[in-house]
Amino acid sequence: MYTVPDLNEYLSDPIQQTADLLTALHEEAEAVRTESDWKVFRDRWMARKGGILAQVNDLWLRAAPPDRKREAGKRVNDLKARVEKKVEDSLQGLRAGVPAAHAGSERLDITLPGIHRPIGAEHPIIKTMNEIVAVFRNLGYSVQEGPEIETDYYNFESLNFPPNHPARDTQDTLFIANQQTKALREQLLLRTHTSPVQIRTMEKIKPPIRIVIPGKVYRNDPPDASHSPMFHQIEGLAVDTNITFGDLKGTLDHAMKAFFGSSVKTSFRPSFFPFTEPSAELMVSCFVCGGSGRRGSDPCRPCKQTGWIEILGCGMVDPNVFEFVKDNGYDPSKVSGFAFGMGADRIALLKYGVDDLQLFFQNDVRFLRQFA
Ligand code: DAH
Repeated sequence: MYTVPDLNEYLSDPIQQTADLLTALHEEAEAVRTESDWKVFRDRWMARKGGILAQVNDLWLRAAPPDRKREAGKRVNDLKARVEKKVEDSLQGLRAGVPAAHAGSERLDITLPGIHRPIGAEHPIIKTMNEIVAVFRNLGYSVQEGPEIETDYYNFESLNFPPNHPARDTQDTLFIANQQTKALREQLLLRTHTSPVQIRTMEKIKPPIRIVIPGKVYRNDPPDASHSPMFHQIEGLAVDTNITFGDLKGTLDHAMKAFFGSSVKTSFRPSFFPFTEPSAELMVSCFVCGGSGRRGSDPCRPCKQTGWIEILGCGMVDPNVFEFVKDNGYDPSKVSGFAFGMGADRIALLKYGVDDLQLFFQNDVRFLRQFA
């Protein structure tokens, strides 16, 4: 490491001594990699007490005989300016990511084309999910999530699908292989719906609760224009004392108007899900044709000319479901609740007038760019 030679050595060959010092300065600047390196470097050269410039000042200038003072003064001043500039450039270079040796000699060429940064955007499905979640957050719902690899217990049994119940067949389940030795309720599968997070949340949080659950789900459906083995759902659950079917209807009617526009109408028709009783399907009046079933002289395709579009499944939480979480305050004789679940992909398709679900998953930039 460089040390400042004494006055005699300096006076015997000032040009060589100056050159040696500058070489050391240059090499040390080049070794600076981090801000803390740089501070050490700066202090070594510029510290008022004991810094190399201070030593040079003491040894070469103040101690110089009167007849060499002028010459030494010029050299030392020149050195001082160079050291200061090197220290400054090295910091600039560090901040700009340019190796110290080049800093200062680099110049900005304003005639070069700029760096084009493509603007990212939310994927249309994520955007749709965020918008739906926002509607419920405004109603005081919080967001919960759960695992995509689930046990048979959470995906089926605790949602009142007993083993071998035919309702299981409605969800073409993808099971994880080689688990025959495990008890059925512990066997793993890819969750077929977001409903298992209802139970997982009720195990963790006592009533009252109001939650929405966005997430990916999986079924053994070959991909086509309206199916995909991976798709997205948003689930909702409200549990409290005295929750009625009227609350369910009022909440979902509000949510549909907030999401699709205040002119849509809602309609409920009876349905079946093992985990709700009674169960219903919610239809909204077609927001493409306004419910008429026609677009000009053409039939309206999205609602198949019916004027109504099916959006989600819902119902009052079945008391059998509460039985599984009774110990955490969900006594079915004390609390009641409603639940709902919708497919985000289908809603995004309808909302953006896209006619092939696969476009959402192929991630062709020419398609996605249209949503930026
Ligand atoms: N889990 C159902 C499905 O994937 C959707 C559903 C229906 C969720 C009714 C609910 C509900 O919470 O109450 O088909």
